[in-house]
Parts: sequence; structure tokens; C-alpha cells
Amino acid sequence: MLKIDVLTLFPEFFESPLKTGIIKKGLDEGLITVNPVDLRDFTTDRHKTADDAPFGGGAGMVMKPEPIFRAVRHIQGGRIKRREGKPRIILLTPQGRRFSDREAKRLREFGRLVLICGRYEGVDERVSEGLVDDEISIGDYILSGGEVAALVIIEAVARLVEGVVGKRESVEKDSFSNSLLKYPQYTRPSKYLGMEVPEILLSGDHEKIAEWRLVQSVKRTLSRRPDILEGKELSEKERLIIEDITGGKPPKGG
Ligand code: ADE
Repeated sequence: MLKIDVLTLFPEFFESPLKTGIIKKGLDEGLITVNPVDLRDFTTDRHKTADDAPFGGGAGMVMKPEPIFRAVRHIQGGRIKRREGKPRIILLTPQGRRFSDREAKRLREFGRLVLICGRYEGVDERVSEGLVDDEISIGDYILSGGEVAALVIIEAVARLVEGVVGKRESVEKDSFSNSLLKYPQYTRPSKYLGMEVPEILLSGDHEKIAEWRLVQSVKRTLSRRPDILEGKELSEKERLIIEDITGGKPPKGG
């Protein structure tokens, strides 16, 4: 079970993604819950003010701390807290640690997550100081808010919950779990626009197919993401394939 609360000024942003694909399946089967929380419900003034001008001047608005603290306190106040422990509180921000497969697995270890979606101009620093456990970025680019980043994290972590993805195997064999990129995949028709499916895949020889796929994975990783191979403990087979391709030279990190 995984329970995720998402604190946002735009709860409607999550409507369609939660009705689609594996997230919907996980929700329908009770394997995960995702609860968008409107931060404006935790403001106290008539205008539902959730942001204000930055002290010291400058462009843009900064998200006020009080609605965020109040919303988290509200989430932690329920019975669920005592049963399942303190949730991991995460702020989505371009200043955060880079999200990755490893990070997704680490987050999966927590039964409860609270994702705080900031607007890009900023969130009052006292939220980081007094509330947040982790700050996470999904990449080196600026989004106008943390909502898209929260969705990325929800999908990547939900996939790791037992039963959410149909066959456990398709999670295990996906890219990054074993640190090689995925081999090329094909489906019918076997010939399309003059392009043919590699014959070995039609052979029915599962051992040979597995070998071919491993070679393709290694080749792809070498040419597209040599940095991944640098950090990976290689199996004897993988080492031999790399030697074969590079003529014995170690891969260059990119
Ligand atoms: N908010 C704005 N840009 C972001 C990014 N790259 N990652 C996470 N949250 C963000």
C-alpha cells in the first residue's frame, strides 16, 4: 500500500492523469491512494491568499508558509498517522536532488508521501527548514510549478508497488532497474515500410533471443548512455560483450 497526498494550488491538474493507465488501476484496486489537497483550503483570509511578494524585492510571488504547514498538520492529524507512521514530506523544486530510478525505490520504502508542489518563483524557505524531509528535482529545466514533477514521481513510484504493474517481471526488466537500457522491441507486422523485424525474434529460440537482447541492451547503453555502464557492476557476460564491441577498451563516460 502507498498513500500519496499532493499539496497544490491546482488540484484539478491531477484529474485526468488519475483516471488513466496504471495510476487508475492502482487506485481502483486499492493498491495506492492519491489525494490532491487544495492549499487554498488552508488559507485563512477572505481572498484565500496563498502567495505574497518576496521580502527584499524581486519579480514573482513566493508561496506563503502557513497554508503549507497547516495542510501538512491536517494530513498528519488523522488516524492514519498513528497506524502507518509519519509520512515522508517532499518539496518539488529545481533546487532539489535529481530524481532517478534509485530515488523512486527509496521513496517506495515509505508507506506515505506528501508531495508539495511549489510555484517556480519559490516557496518560503521556512517550509524547507521546518517541514520538508527531501527536496527533489526531476531535471535541469524550469517548470512553472511542481505539479508535472509530482506526477512523474507518482507514476514512477506507483509502478514499484506490488501488483500495480501486471507482471512483476516487466518492472524488473525495465530500463534502469538493472542499469542497462532496454533492447529494441517489435510487434506485428513483421515487415513494415520495407523494415523487417530481426529474424532471431521470430525463431522461437528463447535462449538465443535472450542473448540477442542482452547484446542489444549493452550496445544501446554504450552508445547512448556510457555513463550508466561506468557506475554499474558488470556481469561476466556483460563484460565480454563490451570487450567484443570496444575491442577491449573500457567505455568512455559521456
Ligand atoms: N518545479 C519547477 N521546476 C521543477 C523541476 N525541474 N523539478 C521539480 N520541480 C520543479
